[in-house]
Amino acid sequence: MQEGEVETTICEIDPNKCRGCGFCTMVAMCYSSRGCAGCLSCYWACPYEARVIRRVKEKRRLVRVNINDEDYYVPERITVRKALEMIGFRVGIYPGEGDLQAPCGTGGCWTCAVVVNGELVRSCITPVEEGMKIDTNTSGREPLRIVHGPEPHPVGGKATPWREKKLGRYIEVAIWVAGCNLRCPQCQNYAVTYDNTSTPMTPKEAAKILTYYRRRYRVKGLAISGGEPTLNKRWLIEYFKELRKLNPDKEARLHLDSNGTLLTPDYIDELVSAGCNNIGIEPKGLYVETFMKITGISDKELAERYLKTAWNAIKYVIDHYKEEVYLGVGIPYNKEFMSWEEVAKIGEKLASIDSDVQVCVLDYFPAFRRRDLVRPSVDEMLRVKKILNDAGLKCVIVQTRIGHLGP
Ligand code: FES
Repeated sequence: MQEGEVETTICEIDPNKCRGCGFCTMVAMCYSSRGCAGCLSCYWACPYEARVIRRVKEKRRLVRVNINDEDYYVPERITVRKALEMIGFRVGIYPGEGDLQAPCGTGGCWTCAVVVNGELVRSCITPVEEGMKIDTNTSGREPLRIVHGPEPHPVGGKATPWREKKLGRYIEVAIWVAGCNLRCPQCQNYAVTYDNTSTPMTPKEAAKILTYYRRRYRVKGLAISGGEPTLNKRWLIEYFKELRKLNPDKEARLHLDSNGTLLTPDYIDELVSAGCNNIGIEPKGLYVETFMKITGISDKELAERYLKTAWNAIKYVIDHYKEEVYLGVGIPYNKEFMSWEEVAKIGEKLASIDSDVQVCVLDYFPAFRRRDLVRPSVDEMLRVKKILNDAGLKCVIVQTRIGHLGP
């Protein structure tokens, strides 16, 4: 039996923190039947932070895998993604960067999919097996993504036009897709974000079911949120093209709700030409320290890139698509991570880009790993609104425990 040394990480349960909630078996499950393969999806997903990472350097049996018609020997109990990295593949986050993109790393977005023994699988959470045949070219396959919903919505998201929010009835139907490139400790939708268990859909299936719901609830808005929808670019562009084909009327508002961190200008151009005409961007903060605190991204360089991309996306949409795309900007607020001074600076920056842009401030409530957060009071949210109005913004909406309060 051949053996090789591997340096990797494995995840272990901290019995003092585990509450037996079942999240790691029902929502973010393990796909390795022979012990931890080091994908870390359970580490990121556990709401009680009951997983610890241990770095190991050990001898393991080698298994033979065939990658793009070449045989390689790699240590057992590692992921397909790790095996690809070991033979020289560069793994990136942004669309088109690296030989393979794996932006969520938790099994939700399916961006990292490769063909294994004829089936599309997620390389980030699938362990290697003896004799596996891996093909990294997926161009002939329909992309997949885990989708939750659809559901009708009476309020919509940060970019749902305020005039519609006031109608007091269902105004949008929405789906939520799994997988995110951020690691927000107070993730407001973590059961979707970290889901790697549900059966994925093709873009056509998602567009079809959402269109059916649009007809059923007689609304204009068709929204996609997450998780982070921009992660699997091929899936998202095909989804919008199909959605536009099924909803060609001018009334149809094809809404993307994003954190903006991957929305580069060329990505925005493709989305708009695919039919997207309503975009929400939530840059999380103005200062990189705030961004890191809110998003859990500890790599400062990456955090700076994300933050810059999101702010540039706001400006780009306004400068290039003001007539075609209704833009809404989201700002998270909780005094735990945002000062009044930063709120004012955000207001000034947005007003300098476009004082008419719709801004929706989200009162971040206790969730996921930040159950200690205190939801901002209505008075606090009204103070945030006043600060933003004083900075020159004309259309500010604040989400509060008594509903959305707008201009
Ligand atoms: S990176 Fe593998 S599923 Fe998202």
